[in-house]
Amino acid sequence: MTDSSITFIGGGNMAACLIEGLLAKGHSPQSIRVSDINSGARKKIENMFQVTAMSDNVVASKDADIIILAVKPQTLGEVAKELAPQLRSHSLIVSIAAGISVRQIVRYVGKSASIVRAMPNTPAVVLSGATGLYANPKVLPSQKTAVEKIFSAVGYACWVEDESHIDAITAVSGSAPAYFLLIFETMHCVARELGLPETLALGLIKQTAYGTAKLAQSSSLAIDELRRQVTSPGGTTEAAVKAFQDGGIEDLFRKAMTDAVKRSQEISFDQPV
Ligand SMILES: NC(=O)c1ccc[n+]([C@@H]2O[C@H](COP(=O)([O-])OP(=O)(O)OC[C@H]3O[C@@H](n4cnc5c(N)ncnc54)[C@H](OP(=O)(O)O)[C@@H]3O)[C@@H](O)[C@H]2O)c1
Repeated sequence: MTDSSITFIGGGNMAACLIEGLLAKGHSPQSIRVSDINSGARKKIENMFQVTAMSDNVVASKDADIIILAVKPQTLGEVAKELAPQLRSHSLIVSIAAGISVRQIVRYVGKSASIVRAMPNTPAVVLSGATGLYANPKVLPSQKTAVEKIFSAVGYACWVEDESHIDAITAVSGSAPAYFLLIFETMHCVARELGLPETLALGLIKQTAYGTAKLAQSSSLAIDELRRQVTSPGGTTEAAVKAFQDGGIEDLFRKAMTDAVKRSQEISFDQPV
């Protein structure tokens, strides 16, 4: 089977991650094109991946099976409007811009467009990302398969039926690398107060987080059961867990994540249509 031809509009961080993942999975570099207004970004992409990079969005996306809009949310409107007149009936638009709804993209490119909205996260840089995907009704099953292949190349990808779930996914995985890093930061600070050398403390924290994620991935047990297994009654872990629970960890996470959902909805609302 021949590879889908893919054009990235915007050749920044996210595009680079996705291209790296695609090439690692054997996608041919000849079927990937990038368009970016920034000559530095174009040069970087060409040097890193030997794919064609150009400055004309319209030329770059001509005849592409999949056009991935990988520009900042505030730039997406002008890019989509620029591409609209030459979109072909079989072209699929994939937007990774945070907070831009399918309804808004349709206003730029027309009602007949096939559109996928994706919410990836930064661990995609190390091919361990998590991406939520939503397709409008125009998207064909074969196109969904092609899109899933792109995002699976940089980690885990899943579909949702309801677009509002993309806002929830923004809170659950899109923004979540920062939650975990905040926990790393806090633990690192306390570990130093407890007298551990800085580098050693950080090494222990990172390895423990990595190992715990691996354990949770490979275990068939429910998360709460897994936690109970490592929490002996009357032990040190129980003392720590009790302190978290008494301090209201659940309410704190509830507030943080609902605030993230609210902000995602506000950003969508703020964008001009
Ligand atoms: N990074 C993440 O973790 C993450 C996670 C989820 C979703 N996203 C979404 O992914 C999108 C891209 O993020 P990113 O971090 O990859 O951004 P980025 O590194 O800034 O890349 C965007 C690139 O597009 C270029 N550009 C600007 N206007 C353009 C135009 N009219 N035509 C073609 N190229 C243009 C930019 O050039 P200049 O720098 O010169 O403007 C830049 O090189 C954003 O919408 C973001 O919301 C990112």
